[in-house]
Amino acid sequence: MHFHVPHPPSFSNFHHLVDQVRDVIKHYKTEKESEAHQIFRNAAPSHQPKGFLPQTVNPDEETVPGIEHPGSTGVIYCSDRAMANGFSYTSSHEWANLGQGAPEVGPLDGAPPRPTSIPLPLDSLEYAPTTGVKALREAVANLYNHTYRQGKASQYTYENVCIVPGGRSGLSRVAAVIGDVYTSYQVPDYTAYDQVLSAFRRLVPVPTALDPKNKYKLDIAQTKKDIQTQGLAVILASNPRNPTGQVIKGHDLKELVALGREGTTVILDEFYSWYIYPKHDQDFGHSISSAEYVEDVNQDSVVIIDGLTKNWRLPGWRVCWVIGPKNLITALSQSGSFLDGGANHPLQLAAIPLLDPVHVRQEKIALQKHFKAKRDHVLARLKELHLDVDIPPSSTFYVWLNLEKLPPPLNNGLTFFEELLKEQTIVIPGIFFDINPAHRRNLFNSPCHHFVRLSFGPPIEDLDKGLDAIGRVLKKAKMTRMKDIGQGYKTDVEEISEPVQVQ
Ligand SMILES: Cc1ncc(COP(=O)(O)O)c(C=O)c1O
Repeated sequence: MHFHVPHPPSFSNFHHLVDQVRDVIKHYKTEKESEAHQIFRNAAPSHQPKGFLPQTVNPDEETVPGIEHPGSTGVIYCSDRAMANGFSYTSSHEWANLGQGAPEVGPLDGAPPRPTSIPLPLDSLEYAPTTGVKALREAVANLYNHTYRQGKASQYTYENVCIVPGGRSGLSRVAAVIGDVYTSYQVPDYTAYDQVLSAFRRLVPVPTALDPKNKYKLDIAQTKKDIQTQGLAVILASNPRNPTGQVIKGHDLKELVALGREGTTVILDEFYSWYIYPKHDQDFGHSISSAEYVEDVNQDSVVIIDGLTKNWRLPGWRVCWVIGPKNLITALSQSGSFLDGGANHPLQLAAIPLLDPVHVRQEKIALQKHFKAKRDHVLARLKELHLDVDIPPSSTFYVWLNLEKLPPPLNNGLTFFEELLKEQTIVIPGIFFDINPAHRRNLFNSPCHHFVRLSFGPPIEDLDKGLDAIGRVLKKAKMTRMKDIGQGYKTDVEEISEPVQVQ
């Protein structure tokens, strides 16, 4: 972006002096000076930095004896802020929700028709087993064997599959059975790991910052050292990764999986395994999973979580699965029996034909073509706005956008987010992917401070609406020389409706 660069101070030129003063104001260094950050800190007691100020209690919120609010990081915060700016489910068509963590669910060219009804046989009115309907477990095992394990001696069976009511439920079931061990996660990664890792208080979360200079790649050699020196027992990562859009594949993935044979449990959240964008058309239909590199399905401690939410574009079905050694699945059956009681029975039955490999291939190719076109469109439009993406996504449907080159305060994710709300557009401030952001003493020090995540999950018309809004914000910043940027944010939530899902 070519913004006006302030001139050196000159008393003979009043405008230059004004520029300079404004420049000082806008180059604030700590969150105390930023309106957007103060709104975030004051939104809930759990948003106060831990270990810095004593934990305060919000008397309006903490009125139920013994109940503590777990904290409203991503999901609730972004929707509350959007509602304070006039967003509601009735007005949602006027808004562009580039914060959306779900793919569009409508028909796509070349994809099988979308399901429109499901049968309800009498049996389906009963509870399903906590590990899921056997025929669906078999269908999942078959699909993975067919896609990733042809010709290998060790094959998955239904005993390696546990059906769960959604990905987060799968993560919670897994987290609930992790013992008192060091559990490694990386920053940035999927927002829900924050609550999932802190809700189950036995495991000890150990963060690792991914380096943008290394394209946010997990450094496997360093991970091996950390296993030795820190005694990491479990590694959790989304792959492909939300929000960076990068994927560990090939040799690196093989090495990561190998850790599962050497005494470490590797948990890979593979919800975006189909959102891979090949350079050449003949490669459409290829997806990535650690299942390809597992040698013995019962000996290698590799845990895969996936489901219908993203790849099949059926987030509302809440039918997902965890794949791993038999002895993990029996543990998950136990945690599921007190956590959630199992996935919806009729929808499990309805899911079985959707896992047929021929059906899957058709879905996958249609999805990859459509989402690749959307990704390229968004990247091209961002480039036109001089917002080049340093590390373009090779997978997922997210753009991890670095705002550092914009003039302050538009260069921080929380202020950029607030400015876009004024233009009826939602994006997700990067700090929400810095697991446990509120615990930082100064949010300006977060490695995610300068970022926002833009989703190209929504239909293309919505993407254009949001990109137009970004264009307007940049134009306004330029025209007014940042005068109105960084202030004037609404704080009253007029209407409480359901939170926007931010994943
Ligand atoms: C990495 C990752 N894992 C899991 C999920 C969530 O799955 P579900 O909506 O089925 O709980 C998401 C959704 O946003 C995600 O981004």
